Amino acid sequence: MGQGILTTGFSRVDGAAYCEGVSIEQVARATGTPLYVYSLATVRDRYERLERMLAPVSHRIHYTLKANSNRGILRELRALGAGVDVVSGGELHRALAAGFSGADVIFGGVGKTERELREALEADVLLVNAESEGEVRLLDRLAAEIGVRARVSLRVNPEITLDAPHDYIKTGGKGHKFGIPHDDVVHVALIAADLPNVDLIGLDMHLGSQLSRIDPYAEGTERLGAIFDELTTRGVRTLKYIDIGGGLGVRYDTEQPPDLQRFADLVLPTVARTGLTLIMEPGRYVVGNAGALVTQVLYRKHSGGKDYVVVDAGMTELLRPSHYGAFHRIQAVTAKTEHRVVDVVGPVCESGDFLALERELDDVAPGELLIVYDAGAYGFAMASNYNSRVRPAEVLVDGDRFALVTAREQYDDLVRLEIDQPEWRIPPVGGQG
Ligand code: LLP
Repeated sequence: MGQGILTTGFSRVDGAAYCEGVSIEQVARATGTPLYVYSLATVRDRYERLERMLAPVSHRIHYTLKANSNRGILRELRALGAGVDVVSGGELHRALAAGFSGADVIFGGVGKTERELREALEADVLLVNAESEGEVRLLDRLAAEIGVRARVSLRVNPEITLDAPHDYIKTGGKGHKFGIPHDDVVHVALIAADLPNVDLIGLDMHLGSQLSRIDPYAEGTERLGAIFDELTTRGVRTLKYIDIGGGLGVRYDTEQPPDLQRFADLVLPTVARTGLTLIMEPGRYVVGNAGALVTQVLYRKHSGGKDYVVVDAGMTELLRPSHYGAFHRIQAVTAKTEHRVVDVVGPVCESGDFLALERELDDVAPGELLIVYDAGAYGFAMASNYNSRVRPAEVLVDGDRFALVTAREQYDDLVRLEIDQPEWRIPPVGGQG
Protein backbone atom coordinates (compact mmCIF):
# COMPACT_ATOMS: atom_id res chain seq x y z
CA MET A 1 0.00 0.00 0.00
CA GLY A 2 1.98 2.99 -1.21
CA GLN A 3 1.22 6.21 0.60
CA GLY A 4 1.39 8.12 -2.69
CA ILE A 5 1.37 11.88 -2.70
CA LEU A 6 -1.03 13.35 -0.17
CA THR A 7 -2.63 16.04 -2.29
CA THR A 8 -5.01 18.35 -0.50
CA GLY A 9 -7.43 19.20 -3.30
CA PHE A 10 -6.07 22.77 -3.28
CA SER A 11 -3.74 23.97 -6.00
CA ARG A 12 -2.65 27.02 -7.98
CA VAL A 13 -3.39 27.70 -11.61
CA ASP A 14 -1.45 30.66 -13.03
CA GLY A 15 -0.98 32.06 -9.52
CA ALA A 16 -4.67 31.75 -8.58
CA ALA A 17 -5.88 29.45 -5.80
CA TYR A 18 -8.22 26.61 -6.73
CA CYS A 19 -10.10 24.00 -4.78
CA GLU A 20 -10.32 21.07 -7.21
CA GLY A 21 -11.68 22.67 -10.40
CA VAL A 22 -13.20 25.72 -8.71
CA SER A 23 -11.61 29.15 -8.39
CA ILE A 24 -11.48 30.28 -4.75
CA GLU A 25 -11.86 33.89 -5.85
CA GLN A 26 -15.14 33.06 -7.57
CA VAL A 27 -16.54 31.10 -4.63
CA ALA A 28 -15.63 33.94 -2.27
CA ARG A 29 -17.24 36.45 -4.60
CA ALA A 30 -20.44 34.39 -4.71
CA THR A 31 -20.57 33.60 -1.00
CA GLY A 32 -18.67 36.35 0.82
CA THR A 33 -16.00 35.95 3.48
CA PRO A 34 -14.99 34.58 5.91
CA LEU A 35 -15.75 31.24 4.33
CA TYR A 36 -14.77 27.59 4.75
CA VAL A 37 -14.22 25.61 1.56
CA TYR A 38 -13.88 21.80 1.54
CA SER A 39 -12.65 19.45 -1.15
CA LEU A 40 -14.78 16.32 -1.29
CA ALA A 41 -12.15 14.52 -3.37
CA THR A 42 -9.76 14.90 -0.46
CA VAL A 43 -12.29 13.58 2.05
CA ARG A 44 -12.87 10.56 -0.18
CA ASP A 45 -9.14 10.03 -0.71
CA ARG A 46 -8.33 10.03 3.00
CA TYR A 47 -11.26 7.80 3.86
CA GLU A 48 -10.27 5.32 1.19
CA ARG A 49 -6.66 5.30 2.37
CA LEU A 50 -7.85 4.28 5.82
CA GLU A 51 -10.12 1.63 4.32
CA ARG A 52 -7.20 0.12 2.42
CA MET A 53 -4.98 0.24 5.48
CA LEU A 54 -7.51 -1.62 7.62
CA ALA A 55 -8.66 -4.05 4.90
CA PRO A 56 -6.67 -7.04 6.23
CA VAL A 57 -8.81 -7.22 9.39
CA SER A 58 -12.50 -7.01 10.17
CA HIS A 59 -12.99 -3.31 10.88
CA ARG A 60 -15.30 -0.32 11.09
CA ILE A 61 -14.37 3.34 10.57
CA HIS A 62 -16.37 5.69 12.77
CA TYR A 63 -15.64 9.25 11.68
CA THR A 64 -15.36 11.60 14.67
CA LEU A 65 -17.95 14.32 14.29
CA LYS A 66 -16.23 16.85 16.51
CA ALA A 67 -13.61 17.50 13.83
CA ASN A 68 -16.17 18.82 11.36
CA SER A 69 -19.84 18.03 11.65
CA ASN A 70 -21.65 19.79 8.84
CA ARG A 71 -24.17 17.51 7.26
CA GLY A 72 -22.73 18.02 3.79
CA ILE A 73 -19.54 16.26 4.86
CA LEU A 74 -21.45 13.72 6.95
CA ARG A 75 -23.66 12.68 4.05
CA GLU A 76 -20.58 12.15 1.91
CA LEU A 77 -18.96 9.98 4.55
CA ARG A 78 -22.14 7.99 4.98
CA ALA A 79 -22.17 7.33 1.25
CA LEU A 80 -18.59 6.06 1.56
CA GLY A 81 -19.71 3.57 4.19
CA ALA A 82 -18.46 5.28 7.33
CA GLY A 83 -20.04 5.12 10.75
CA VAL A 84 -19.71 7.98 13.22
CA ASP A 85 -18.34 8.68 16.67
CA VAL A 86 -20.33 11.26 18.64
CA VAL A 87 -19.69 12.86 22.01
CA SER A 88 -22.89 14.73 22.79
CA GLY A 89 -26.63 14.61 22.31
CA GLY A 90 -26.17 17.41 19.77
CA GLU A 91 -23.75 15.34 17.70
CA LEU A 92 -26.10 12.35 17.89
CA HIS A 93 -28.87 14.59 16.60
CA ARG A 94 -26.68 15.78 13.72
CA ALA A 95 -25.66 12.24 12.82
CA LEU A 96 -29.26 11.03 12.73
CA ALA A 97 -30.26 14.12 10.74
CA ALA A 98 -27.54 13.26 8.21
CA GLY A 99 -29.13 9.84 7.69
CA PHE A 100 -27.02 7.64 9.95
CA SER A 101 -28.93 5.04 11.93
CA GLY A 102 -28.26 4.16 15.56
CA ALA A 103 -26.32 1.09 14.45
CA ASP A 104 -23.82 3.40 12.71
CA VAL A 105 -23.11 5.38 15.86
CA ILE A 106 -20.70 4.97 18.74
CA PHE A 107 -21.20 7.39 21.63
CA GLY A 108 -18.22 8.56 23.67
CA GLY A 109 -17.23 11.39 25.97
CA VAL A 110 -16.00 11.84 29.50
CA GLY A 111 -19.08 13.60 30.88
CA LYS A 112 -22.24 12.23 29.31
CA THR A 113 -25.40 13.40 31.04
CA GLU A 114 -28.23 11.07 31.97
CA ARG A 115 -30.31 12.63 29.23
CA GLU A 116 -27.58 11.96 26.65
CA LEU A 117 -27.20 8.34 27.74
CA ARG A 118 -30.94 7.90 27.52
CA GLU A 119 -30.94 9.38 24.01
CA ALA A 120 -28.11 7.03 23.02
CA LEU A 121 -29.98 3.98 24.30
CA GLU A 122 -33.23 5.10 22.70
CA ALA A 123 -31.44 5.58 19.37
CA ASP A 124 -30.10 2.02 19.77
CA VAL A 125 -26.50 3.08 19.12
CA LEU A 126 -23.97 0.37 18.30
CA LEU A 127 -22.24 0.98 21.62
CA VAL A 128 -21.47 3.52 24.32
CA ASN A 129 -17.83 4.02 25.25
CA ALA A 130 -18.11 4.28 29.03
CA GLU A 131 -15.42 6.10 30.99
CA SER A 132 -16.10 5.16 34.62
CA GLU A 133 -17.73 2.56 36.84
CA GLY A 134 -20.37 5.15 37.73
CA GLU A 135 -21.30 5.57 34.08
CA VAL A 136 -21.57 1.81 33.55
CA ARG A 137 -23.90 1.51 36.53
CA LEU A 138 -25.99 4.44 35.29
CA LEU A 139 -26.27 2.77 31.87
CA ASP A 140 -27.47 -0.41 33.57
CA ARG A 141 -30.20 1.50 35.41
CA LEU A 142 -31.29 3.49 32.34
CA ALA A 143 -31.38 0.38 30.17
CA ALA A 144 -33.67 -1.29 32.71
CA GLU A 145 -35.94 1.76 32.79
CA ILE A 146 -36.18 1.97 29.01
CA GLY A 147 -36.44 -1.79 28.58
CA VAL A 148 -33.38 -2.27 26.36
CA ARG A 149 -29.89 -3.70 26.79
CA ALA A 150 -26.96 -1.29 27.02
CA ARG A 151 -24.12 -2.31 24.72
CA VAL A 152 -21.04 -0.96 26.44
CA SER A 153 -17.39 -0.67 25.58
CA LEU A 154 -14.91 0.48 28.22
CA ARG A 155 -12.60 3.35 27.43
CA VAL A 156 -9.26 2.39 28.87
CA ASN A 157 -6.69 5.02 29.68
CA PRO A 158 -3.70 3.21 28.17
CA GLU A 159 -1.32 5.47 30.15
CA ILE A 160 1.07 6.03 27.29
CA THR A 161 3.14 9.19 27.26
CA LEU A 162 3.44 10.67 23.81
CA ASP A 163 4.65 13.64 21.89
CA ALA A 164 1.56 15.39 20.49
CA PRO A 165 2.36 18.99 19.52
CA HIS A 166 0.37 20.50 22.40
CA ASP A 167 -0.51 19.30 25.91
CA TYR A 168 -4.21 20.01 25.32
CA ILE A 169 -4.47 17.32 22.65
CA LYS A 170 -2.87 14.52 24.67
CA THR A 171 -5.51 12.33 26.24
CA GLY A 172 -4.11 8.88 27.01
CA GLY A 173 -1.44 9.67 29.61
CA LYS A 174 -1.49 8.63 33.27
CA GLY A 175 -3.66 10.99 35.30
CA HIS A 176 -5.60 12.46 32.36
CA LYS A 177 -9.31 12.90 32.94
CA PHE A 178 -10.21 10.49 30.13
CA GLY A 179 -11.00 6.80 30.39
CA ILE A 180 -10.72 4.26 33.17
CA PRO A 181 -7.24 4.08 34.70
CA HIS A 182 -5.44 1.13 33.16
CA ASP A 183 -5.10 -0.79 36.42
CA ASP A 184 -8.81 -0.50 37.28
CA VAL A 185 -10.15 -1.73 33.95
CA VAL A 186 -10.40 -5.44 34.69
CA HIS A 187 -12.22 -4.69 37.94
CA VAL A 188 -14.75 -2.42 36.17
CA ALA A 189 -15.10 -4.90 33.28
CA LEU A 190 -16.02 -7.71 35.66
CA ILE A 191 -18.66 -5.48 37.27
CA ALA A 192 -20.01 -4.54 33.82
CA ALA A 193 -20.10 -8.20 32.76
CA ASP A 194 -22.25 -8.99 35.82
CA LEU A 195 -24.74 -6.13 35.51
CA PRO A 196 -28.13 -7.46 34.38
CA ASN A 197 -28.86 -4.89 31.65
CA VAL A 198 -25.37 -4.35 30.26
CA ASP A 199 -23.60 -6.24 27.47
CA LEU A 200 -19.89 -5.61 27.68
CA ILE A 201 -18.87 -5.75 24.03
CA GLY A 202 -15.70 -3.73 23.62
CA LEU A 203 -12.47 -2.17 24.80
CA ASP A 204 -11.53 1.31 23.64
CA MET A 205 -8.71 3.82 23.91
CA HIS A 206 -7.77 7.19 22.42
CA LEU A 207 -4.15 8.27 22.67
CA GLY A 208 -4.27 11.91 21.62
CA SER A 209 -4.42 13.92 18.44
CA GLN A 210 -2.10 14.97 15.61
CA LEU A 211 0.11 11.92 16.19
CA SER A 212 2.75 11.11 13.61
CA ARG A 213 4.35 8.07 15.26
CA ILE A 214 2.85 4.64 15.00
CA ASP A 215 4.54 3.00 17.98
CA PRO A 216 2.06 4.36 20.56
CA TYR A 217 -0.77 2.73 18.61
CA ALA A 218 1.08 -0.58 18.64
CA GLU A 219 1.77 -0.29 22.35
CA GLY A 220 -1.81 0.75 23.18
CA THR A 221 -3.31 -2.02 21.04
CA GLU A 222 -1.13 -4.55 22.84
CA ARG A 223 -2.34 -3.19 26.15
CA LEU A 224 -5.96 -3.62 25.06
CA GLY A 225 -5.07 -7.09 23.75
CA ALA A 226 -3.62 -8.03 27.17
CA ILE A 227 -6.79 -6.84 28.93
CA PHE A 228 -8.84 -8.88 26.45
CA ASP A 229 -6.75 -11.96 27.31
CA GLU A 230 -7.19 -11.47 31.01
CA LEU A 231 -10.94 -10.97 30.68
CA THR A 232 -11.21 -14.07 28.51
CA THR A 233 -9.34 -16.06 31.17
CA ARG A 234 -11.80 -14.75 33.72
CA GLY A 235 -14.74 -15.97 31.68
CA VAL A 236 -15.83 -12.79 29.88
CA ARG A 237 -16.74 -13.99 26.37
CA THR A 238 -18.92 -11.16 25.11
CA LEU A 239 -16.24 -8.85 23.66
CA LYS A 240 -16.57 -8.07 19.95
CA TYR A 241 -14.76 -4.76 19.37
CA ILE A 242 -11.33 -3.30 19.95
CA ASP A 243 -11.46 0.46 19.39
CA ILE A 244 -8.13 2.25 19.06
CA GLY A 245 -9.53 5.78 18.79
CA GLY A 246 -8.45 8.50 16.41
CA GLY A 247 -5.41 10.74 16.42
CA LEU A 248 -3.65 10.18 13.08
CA GLY A 249 -1.85 13.39 12.21
CA VAL A 250 -1.83 15.43 9.03
CA ARG A 251 0.68 17.74 7.40
CA TYR A 252 0.30 21.41 8.33
CA ASP A 253 3.85 22.48 7.60
CA THR A 254 6.74 20.05 7.38
CA GLU A 255 5.34 17.19 9.50
CA GLN A 256 5.64 13.67 8.17
CA PRO A 257 2.15 12.24 7.83
CA PRO A 258 1.75 8.88 9.59
CA ASP A 259 3.05 5.88 7.69
CA LEU A 260 -0.06 3.81 7.06
CA GLN A 261 1.87 0.75 5.90
CA ARG A 262 3.76 0.75 9.18
CA PHE A 263 0.47 1.14 11.01
CA ALA A 264 -0.88 -1.94 9.25
CA ASP A 265 2.30 -3.89 9.99
CA LEU A 266 2.52 -2.97 13.67
CA VAL A 267 -1.08 -2.77 14.79
CA LEU A 268 -3.15 -5.18 12.73
CA PRO A 269 -1.45 -8.43 13.78
CA THR A 270 -2.41 -7.77 17.43
CA VAL A 271 -5.98 -7.11 16.37
CA ALA A 272 -6.06 -10.24 14.21
CA ARG A 273 -4.80 -12.35 17.12
CA THR A 274 -7.75 -11.27 19.30
CA GLY A 275 -10.29 -12.04 16.58
CA LEU A 276 -12.10 -8.82 17.53
CA THR A 277 -13.42 -6.27 15.03
CA LEU A 278 -11.24 -3.18 14.93
CA ILE A 279 -12.88 0.23 15.29
CA MET A 280 -11.08 3.48 14.43
CA GLU A 281 -12.36 6.96 15.20
CA PRO A 282 -10.47 9.25 12.82
CA GLY A 283 -11.33 12.93 12.61
CA ARG A 284 -8.46 15.14 11.54
CA TYR A 285 -6.99 12.61 9.12
CA VAL A 286 -10.21 12.54 7.10
CA VAL A 287 -10.99 16.25 6.92
CA GLY A 288 -7.93 18.23 8.09
CA ASN A 289 -6.26 18.74 4.72
CA ALA A 290 -9.61 18.87 2.93
CA GLY A 291 -10.62 22.34 4.14
CA ALA A 292 -9.41 25.92 3.95
CA LEU A 293 -10.55 29.20 5.43
CA VAL A 294 -10.86 32.10 3.03
CA THR A 295 -10.62 35.58 4.52
CA GLN A 296 -10.44 39.10 3.17
CA VAL A 297 -7.77 41.64 4.03
CA LEU A 298 -9.35 44.65 5.74
CA TYR A 299 -6.35 46.81 6.59
CA ARG A 300 -2.58 46.96 6.64
CA LYS A 301 -0.86 48.69 9.49
CA HIS A 302 2.46 49.19 11.19
CA SER A 303 2.85 49.34 14.92
CA GLY A 304 5.91 49.00 17.16
CA GLY A 305 8.08 47.98 14.23
CA LYS A 306 5.61 45.28 13.22
CA ASP A 307 3.74 44.89 10.01
CA TYR A 308 0.13 43.77 10.46
CA VAL A 309 -2.38 42.35 8.03
CA VAL A 310 -5.84 42.75 9.60
CA VAL A 311 -8.31 40.26 8.12
CA ASP A 312 -12.02 39.51 8.53
CA ALA A 313 -11.42 36.12 10.23
CA GLY A 314 -9.73 35.42 13.51
CA MET A 315 -9.96 33.24 16.60
CA THR A 316 -13.74 33.17 16.25
CA GLU A 317 -13.43 31.39 12.88
CA LEU A 318 -10.19 29.43 13.45
CA LEU A 319 -9.18 29.08 17.08
CA ARG A 320 -6.24 26.74 16.57
CA PRO A 321 -3.42 29.29 16.13
CA SER A 322 -4.51 31.26 19.17
CA HIS A 323 -5.41 28.29 21.40
CA TYR A 324 -2.70 25.77 20.56
CA GLY A 325 -0.11 27.94 18.84
CA ALA A 326 -0.96 25.88 15.75
CA PHE A 327 0.61 26.61 12.37
CA HIS A 328 -1.54 26.95 9.24
CA ARG A 329 -0.04 27.84 5.86
CA ILE A 330 -1.41 31.10 4.47
CA GLN A 331 -1.20 32.47 0.93
CA ALA A 332 -2.81 35.21 -1.06
CA VAL A 333 -5.61 33.78 -3.18
CA THR A 334 -3.97 35.58 -6.10
CA ALA A 335 -0.19 35.21 -5.74
CA LYS A 336 1.93 38.37 -5.43
CA THR A 337 5.52 38.87 -6.40
CA GLU A 338 6.47 40.89 -3.29
CA HIS A 339 6.54 39.36 0.17
CA ARG A 340 6.61 40.81 3.69
CA VAL A 341 7.02 39.39 7.18
CA VAL A 342 3.73 40.12 8.91
CA ASP A 343 1.38 39.16 11.72
CA VAL A 344 -1.99 38.11 10.33
CA VAL A 345 -4.53 39.20 12.93
CA GLY A 346 -8.30 39.10 13.26
CA PRO A 347 -10.90 41.67 14.27
CA VAL A 348 -11.57 40.26 17.75
CA CYS A 349 -10.76 42.43 20.76
CA GLU A 350 -8.03 40.16 22.16
CA SER A 351 -4.29 40.38 21.64
CA GLY A 352 -4.33 36.59 21.27
CA ASP A 353 -6.50 36.91 18.18
CA PHE A 354 -4.19 35.97 15.33
CA LEU A 355 -3.92 33.49 12.48
CA ALA A 356 -0.14 33.73 12.05
CA LEU A 357 2.75 35.54 13.69
CA GLU A 358 5.92 36.76 11.98
CA ARG A 359 5.01 35.00 8.77
CA GLU A 360 6.47 35.71 5.37
CA LEU A 361 3.41 36.41 3.27
CA ASP A 362 2.42 37.83 -0.10
CA ASP A 363 2.33 41.61 0.09
CA VAL A 364 -1.45 41.92 0.06
CA ALA A 365 -3.59 45.04 -0.04
CA PRO A 366 -6.99 45.66 1.56
CA GLY A 367 -9.74 43.89 -0.39
CA GLU A 368 -7.52 41.00 -1.42
CA LEU A 369 -8.18 37.47 -0.22
CA LEU A 370 -6.06 35.08 1.83
CA ILE A 371 -6.43 31.33 2.02
CA VAL A 372 -5.59 29.58 5.29
CA TYR A 373 -4.90 25.93 4.49
CA ASP A 374 -5.55 22.66 6.28
CA ALA A 375 -8.37 24.07 8.35
CA GLY A 376 -10.91 21.32 7.64
CA ALA A 377 -10.60 19.77 11.11
CA TYR A 378 -11.41 21.70 14.28
CA GLY A 379 -11.89 24.89 12.26
CA PHE A 380 -15.56 25.68 11.78
CA ALA A 381 -16.32 23.11 14.49
CA MET A 382 -14.60 25.33 17.07
CA ALA A 383 -15.95 28.62 15.73
CA SER A 384 -17.71 30.87 18.22
CA ASN A 385 -19.89 33.94 18.40
CA TYR A 386 -17.49 35.89 20.63
CA ASN A 387 -17.74 39.64 19.99
CA SER A 388 -21.18 38.76 18.56
CA ARG A 389 -19.57 37.67 15.36
CA VAL A 390 -21.66 35.55 13.04
CA ARG A 391 -20.22 32.16 12.19
CA PRO A 392 -18.96 31.78 8.62
CA ALA A 393 -20.46 29.97 5.65
CA GLU A 394 -19.31 26.51 4.51
CA VAL A 395 -19.02 25.38 0.92
CA LEU A 396 -18.33 21.94 -0.55
CA VAL A 397 -16.44 21.53 -3.79
CA ASP A 398 -16.82 18.46 -5.96
CA GLY A 399 -14.85 18.57 -9.21
CA ASP A 400 -15.89 21.71 -11.05
CA ARG A 401 -18.98 22.41 -8.90
CA PHE A 402 -19.49 24.01 -5.52
CA ALA A 403 -22.42 24.15 -3.14
CA LEU A 404 -23.21 26.19 -0.06
CA VAL A 405 -23.90 23.70 2.76
CA THR A 406 -23.97 26.08 5.74
CA ALA A 407 -25.29 29.59 5.31
CA ARG A 408 -23.49 32.40 7.07
CA GLU A 409 -25.22 33.21 10.34
CA GLN A 410 -27.29 36.39 10.41
CA TYR A 411 -27.45 39.03 13.14
CA ASP A 412 -30.92 37.78 14.06
CA ASP A 413 -29.45 34.36 14.88
CA LEU A 414 -27.37 36.03 17.57
CA VAL A 415 -30.40 37.14 19.58
CA ARG A 416 -32.86 34.44 18.53
CA LEU A 417 -32.84 32.58 21.84
CA GLU A 418 -32.94 35.65 24.04
CA ILE A 419 -36.23 36.39 25.73
CA ASP A 420 -37.71 39.73 24.68
CA GLN A 421 -39.94 40.16 27.70
CA PRO A 422 -38.39 38.14 30.52
CA GLU A 423 -40.94 36.75 32.92
CA TRP A 424 -39.72 37.45 36.46
CA ARG A 425 -40.55 34.81 39.05
CA ILE A 426 -39.99 34.52 42.79
CA PRO A 427 -38.95 30.99 43.88
CA PRO A 428 -41.33 29.55 46.49
CA VAL A 429 -40.15 29.90 50.10
CA GLY A 430 -38.29 26.75 51.15
CA GLY A 431 -36.76 26.16 47.73
CA GLN A 432 -38.65 22.98 46.71
CA GLY A 433 -42.11 22.84 45.26
N1 LLP B 1 -11.77 9.78 19.49
C1 LLP B 1 -11.77 10.48 20.63
C2 LLP B 1 -12.23 9.83 21.85
C3 LLP B 1 -11.32 11.81 20.65
O1 LLP B 1 -11.32 12.48 21.78
C4 LLP B 1 -10.89 12.41 19.43
C5 LLP B 1 -10.46 13.80 19.40
C6 LLP B 1 -10.92 11.63 18.27
C7 LLP B 1 -11.36 10.31 18.32
C8 LLP B 1 -10.49 12.17 16.95
O2 LLP B 1 -9.16 12.55 16.97
P1 LLP B 1 -8.43 12.99 15.61
O3 LLP B 1 -8.40 11.78 14.70
O4 LLP B 1 -9.20 14.09 15.03
O5 LLP B 1 -7.08 13.40 16.07
N2 LLP B 1 -9.19 20.65 18.81
C9 LLP B 1 -7.91 20.00 18.73
C10 LLP B 1 -8.02 18.50 18.62
C11 LLP B 1 -8.85 17.89 19.74
C12 LLP B 1 -9.03 16.41 19.57
C13 LLP B 1 -10.08 15.92 20.52
N3 LLP B 1 -10.36 14.52 20.44
C14 LLP B 1 -7.12 20.60 17.58
O6 LLP B 1 -7.62 21.50 16.92
O7 LLP B 1 -5.97 20.20 17.34
